[in-house]
Order: sequence, then C-alpha cells, then structure tokens
Amino acid sequence: GPKAAAGRLAFAPIAPVDAAVDAFNVPAGYDWSPIIRWGDPLFDHAPDFDFANQTQASQAGQFGYNNDYTDILRQPNGKKGLLVCNHEYVNPQIMFPAAPANEWQAQSRRNIFRNAVGMSVVELEREHKGTPWEYIRGGKLNRRITMDTLFELTGPLAGSDLVKTLRDPEGRQVQGTLGNCSGGTTPWGTILSGEENFNGFFRTNGTSAEDRRYGLANAATGMGWEQEDPRFDARGTDFRNEPNRFGYIVEIDPENPYSVPRKHTSMGRFKHEGANVIIAKNGKAVAYSGDDERFDYLYKFVSKNKYKPNNKAHNMTLLTEGDLYVAQFTGNSAVEIDGSGTVPADGAFDGTGTWLPLVVNGKSAIAGMGVQEVLAYTRLAADKAGATKMDRCEDVEPSLATGKVYVACTNNTKRGLPGQAPADETNPRAENRDGHIVEITETRGDSTATTFNWTLLMLCGDPAKNSETYFSGFPADKVSPISCPDNLAFDTAGNLWISTDGAPSVIGYNDGLFKVGLEGANRGNVQQFASMPRDAETCGPVIHDDESMVYVAVQHPGEDGSYGKHTSYFPDYVAEGTTPAPGQVRAPRPSVVQIFPAGAGTKPGKGNGRK
Ligand code: FEO
Ligand code: CA
Ligand code: CA
Ligand code: CA
Repeated sequence: GPKAAAGRLAFAPIAPVDAAVDAFNVPAGYDWSPIIRWGDPLFDHAPDFDFANQTQASQAGQFGYNNDYTDILRQPNGKKGLLVCNHEYVNPQIMFPAAPANEWQAQSRRNIFRNAVGMSVVELEREHKGTPWEYIRGGKLNRRITMDTLFELTGPLAGSDLVKTLRDPEGRQVQGTLGNCSGGTTPWGTILSGEENFNGFFRTNGTSAEDRRYGLANAATGMGWEQEDPRFDARGTDFRNEPNRFGYIVEIDPENPYSVPRKHTSMGRFKHEGANVIIAKNGKAVAYSGDDERFDYLYKFVSKNKYKPNNKAHNMTLLTEGDLYVAQFTGNSAVEIDGSGTVPADGAFDGTGTWLPLVVNGKSAIAGMGVQEVLAYTRLAADKAGATKMDRCEDVEPSLATGKVYVACTNNTKRGLPGQAPADETNPRAENRDGHIVEITETRGDSTATTFNWTLLMLCGDPAKNSETYFSGFPADKVSPISCPDNLAFDTAGNLWISTDGAPSVIGYNDGLFKVGLEGANRGNVQQFASMPRDAETCGPVIHDDESMVYVAVQHPGEDGSYGKHTSYFPDYVAEGTTPAPGQVRAPRPSVVQIFPAGAGTKPGKGNGRK
C-alpha cells in the first residue's frame, strides 16, 4: 500500500543543469541507459540502423522518431514487459548527415518520415524484477504503427458525411495517426494516444470558420506530403474531409499485434494532448483530455456503459459511446498578482466549476449544431457553450488514489495581451511563460459529477528570478526551479511527477523530471529527479517506485541543431574523431531511457536489443 511504498525511490534532488550542457543527469546512487533509440530494429528482418543510408522500408521496421507518451506494462513475474510509445513528429534537419541533394532525395525522405511517426510496441526482457531491461528484437508482439496502418473510426462520426473521402467513401477507415503526443493506459490494459498538432500536415482552403478555428491553412506544409499524396491536399472535393479524420483519441491493444487500432469520435475532435481514464464509483469510465492550444479548453468524457473487471472485449467498447463535457471555471476572489509573491485576498487561487454539456445521451447540447458537428468541430461547440480559455492544457491526469484531477497548463505567452483574454483566477498570470498546475476535486468525489471545486497546486518558475511563483505555501526557496509542466504521472505513494518541455528558453535550465508532494506539509515540495540533454523535452514519464525505477522518453534532443552541426550527441555520445561502435551514431537520437539504482543487475548494452 501507499505507506509501505513511501520510502521507495528515495533520492536527493539534483541541481538544475544549465541549458548549454549536453548531459543526462540523475541523482546520486542512480544509473541510466537507453532501452531503445530511434532507428533500433524491432524485427528480425529489419536492418540495423544506418544513419547515412536510411530508407522508407528500413524505418518501417525500426523504432520511430520523437518518442512521447510511454508506458511499460509488466508481466506479474517482472521478467517480461511491453513498451508502448508514440512518435509525435520528426526533425528533418538533424536526421540525416546532410541536406537533400536533389528533389528525388527530398521525396525519398518525405517517405521515410511517413514511417518515422506513429507508434511502437516493443517486447522487453530482463533478469528479474528491479533490474534494467533490454528490448527483444523480433519479439512476437513487436509492432510499428505508421501512416500506412489502417484505423477504424468509432462513435457517431463513423459513416458520417463529414469523414467521407474519395478513398474511403464509407467514412469508416483512416490510414494512419498523426501528432501523437501524450496518452494514457486504460484500466483494461489498452493504450490511448492523442492526435495533437494534426493541422500542420494538411493544406486546405483555409477559409471556413472550421478551418481557421483548427489552424488549417492554405500553405505548403512542413512535411510536404501533399506533393505526393493528394489526401494531404484538402483544397479540392476529393479529400476535403481528410483533416476531419484526425484530431481524435486513438486506442490500441498492445497485446494483439493484429488488432485494428481505433479512433474514438465520441471523445471529440481537437488537438488532444492525450487522455486518462478513471473508473467512477458507479462503474462508468471517465476520461479527461486537454486541448493544447493557447486559450483552448479542458474536456471530460463519461461512458454510457459500465466497466466490467476482467472483460477486456467489453471494456474496449466503453469509449465508443458517452457524454462529452467542457470545463468552465469560476474564481472566488479577485486576481491580485502584484509581483510581491502575494496570492488572492482569500489566500488561495481557487473556486468552483461546471462541466458544460456538449453531447448528452447521444444528442447535441449545442443549439444549431447536430451531434456529428459537435464531435467533428468540438472547438466551435465549446466556444458556444462558454468554456473557460486555458493556458494550454497538456496532460490531465486523475489520481487513482484520491480521484482528484491534475491539469498541467504548460504556458501561454499571449495571456493578457491586447485583444486576448485577460488573466483570471484559474490562469492568473499575464504573459504566462512558466505555466501552472490546476487541481480539480469533483463534487462528492464522483468522477461523473457535473460540478467541481478547484485550486492551483503551483505557479511554476524559478523563485530566484520570478516573484510570481506559488507552491501551495511550501517555501519557494526550498523547491527545485520548474517551468513549462507537460506530462504527469503518479507514484504509489500518491506523489505527482511532472516532466517539462520548454524550460531552457524560460528559466535557462534544461528540461527535467520533478516529483511534488500533494498532501500535508509536503504539498508543493518540488524536487528535481532527472535532467535532459540539450534541447530535449522530457516525456513519458513512467514511475515504478515499487522497484525504484523510472523511465522517460527523451524527445527531440539536439532539436536546435542542423545538418552536420549537432547541439547534442545523446545517447550514444560518440566522441569526436572516433569510429562509432556498431549500432551507434555521432548524432542525437530520441530514446526511451531507464533510470535504476546503481548496481541493480548487469548494466545492459547500449540498447542494441537482444535477439
Ligand atoms: Fe505535443 Fe502538447 O505537447
Ligand atoms: Ca480564491
Ligand atoms: Ca506534450
Ligand atoms: Ca509541450
């Protein structure tokens, strides 16, 4: 139970690391190694990574780029595991030794990128519980999901005119998933993944209210797929609806490599950061999901049907049908951040809230919009409902111990600018660069409730440089500086773990992983556990404090570099002028990293996998 676990994963916080440093740092007494890196082969037939000679076919059999959401599902004996990971996007300028020499090579790379995004499922193996893992090359559950993988649409938009295209006249099957950012693991053992910045992959007319609200524009895309594949050019009639087929929560069953992954339209279409599920007291599955855009919204889905323990087939239908709500927050005191560290007149950033209905009992709750329109153009429906404009909701995670919900608002540099929404008690800082975390307590502890109370857990920042920080009353001079909270996780003792994205440009330190207490005298005590290499974002994280192990997905290391001019050499760190060992490369590689007590079993190799 939580008490027994409280002493596990003990650590002394690390010092923040200057943003110019290209190192992966962990606390004293811990060690780290990559489990798997971009390009590592998943299948027996897949070739070893060859940085200078990549192909579309080789990438289809190798671990993808920019790993984000991560989980590690362990078998009871602890010796076998399953790693599931999203690949959000690519960084072309650091993925090859040189710029494309000609149009043929540019096109060949665009095809490689189609296989570098998506998701991966990888079998893991180790000596025994508590020791580091190696991935299994050729594991029978290994799977790559790419732009060629077929997804099934579920819910009210399946078969709707809003999702029909020339290639899918029935409107039921979509090729690929895009912008897969964060996610969640369901109580029934499947993985949810959020299709976030899908708009950037499509060229559209860009003139409709719907296009503009979703950031869809008539401009050449960064990926350039519209040059070869007409479905990424939605200007004509054939593929006008193709962008309506992205922006969903997808669900995959990692234990069945032949299963058809699904896109759940009942949960709405927006820039889903991810989704996390809790089973309410009445047995319904409740999923929380943020729309990561400045001034966008926080959503809640409540399933129509109830969870049945040990009935995975039934539980995999829960997200296909249910009610959809959007959050409206109300503060209870004037906002009063004056730079002297003061909080509102009643001593807390807090208040009440309402879950405003968008879809209830299969019917639209929004005047002038049918249920299919509400689910395809959810942002416009939420505008009409009067939802509260948030500072970019990233992970939204219910604590399975308390039922309270934590919302990472990563930042919003436009808050309070002329013509933009002003600060309010829930988003209390103008030009919010450091972000904050909202804590929601559902009425009567009922996850299906339509009202709630809320308070702010913290206003992030470096207290040494920013007087507008707040840590629920914990002394600001005793916390680790933290900025731009993104992904969230819990340990078994009920502490919240926060990974960050964007800290270097705000507080001058590399991004990292932090633990914060939520209860009693420890509430607001932020302690840094890990620091990322240069330019990298901290993703995952996975906290297995029962065996003192932590996992992070290191995303976009060296992102600010360019062809042949790298700012990071993580994780291989091949020294200049030396010949890389087999499987290694002198260039940055997004990787999933395990952090474990020093001396815990044999330190495995460098992530080349076990055959
Ligand atoms: Fe892909 Fe909202 O971060
Ligand atoms: Ca208040
Ligand atoms: Ca994120
Ligand atoms: Ca982010």
